[in-house]
Amino acid sequence: MVDSQIHTGGSRRPSSAALLAAAALAFAWLGTSAVVAAEAEPAAAAEHGEAEHVDWQAWKAGNQIGDKASLQRGAANFANYCASCHSIKYLRYERMAKDLQISEELLRKNLLPAGAKPTDYMMARVAAADGEAWFGRAPPDLSLITRSKGSDYVYQFLKGFYVDDSRPTHSNNLALPGAAMPAVLSDLEGVKTVVFSAEGESGHGGGKQVERFEQVAPGALTAAQYDSFVRDTVNYLDYAGEPSQIERGDLGIWVLLFLLVFTGLTWMLKKEYWRDVH
Ligand code: HEC
Repeated sequence: MVDSQIHTGGSRRPSSAALLAAAALAFAWLGTSAVVAAEAEPAAAAEHGEAEHVDWQAWKAGNQIGDKASLQRGAANFANYCASCHSIKYLRYERMAKDLQISEELLRKNLLPAGAKPTDYMMARVAAADGEAWFGRAPPDLSLITRSKGSDYVYQFLKGFYVDDSRPTHSNNLALPGAAMPAVLSDLEGVKTVVFSAEGESGHGGGKQVERFEQVAPGALTAAQYDSFVRDTVNYLDYAGEPSQIERGDLGIWVLLFLLVFTGLTWMLKKEYWRDVH
């Protein structure tokens, strides 16, 4: 076995003619599949009888609560971009750091607002009354937002800001029309306008149908990086909505292991009991 491997690996080289033939075949295959793809796309669009559009209502957060690195990034995102306005009032910094395996040193250095203690609950730095005066609506506590509206909604909301000069914030939101929240992530995402589809058409799940976005100014992040940024942030909010879900996942494995061992033991016990009867 080892011998033959050494032999074939070392000495057998495909001849150049065989290589050429293989390359030609590959090109032919690529060529036809590209033609097939090019023909299939417009056909599919025509079949549905609709113009091209952005199906933003179908955007999914796709976050994973078991991904600690993502949760840690989400915690940093939240501390830097959201915590000034939004509280997570049922969660203490200390508990969050423990659940997400963040050291006390990092917690103090990067996540704790000035003057706060690790045992404090995560309260917004803006007082609710000020928030209401400044934005017209107080920024809501986000403890339960992913549970009340869903992670996908929050994902769509954070990606749904667009320029609208008729609004006091000069921006509007696809997921929450007339949103009082300013587009606080535009430095990262960039600034975009929306071209809506013809009057009267609405996307599935309500809301106006979007034909396309137009980027007005670039952001510091690429589109893919911004998606990850939002996904991590949503993941963190998902965790905050039910902090015990991480522990529960870890505990579940032990419960299953215990049940497995216990089944084995009871089976042996059963054999022991019936040994003299049979
Ligand atoms: C400058 C203050 C401010 C900052 C910073 C801010 N928000 Fe908001 N946010 C608001 C206000 C005001 C509202 C209320 C919007 C409304 O009801 O019209 C809001 C609402 C929300 C909502 C609820 C939307 C709904 O459907 O009710 C979510 C979710 C949210 N913010 C997430 C975030 C996240 C995540 C961040 C950080 C990336 C963030 N916000 C940063 C002010 C802010």
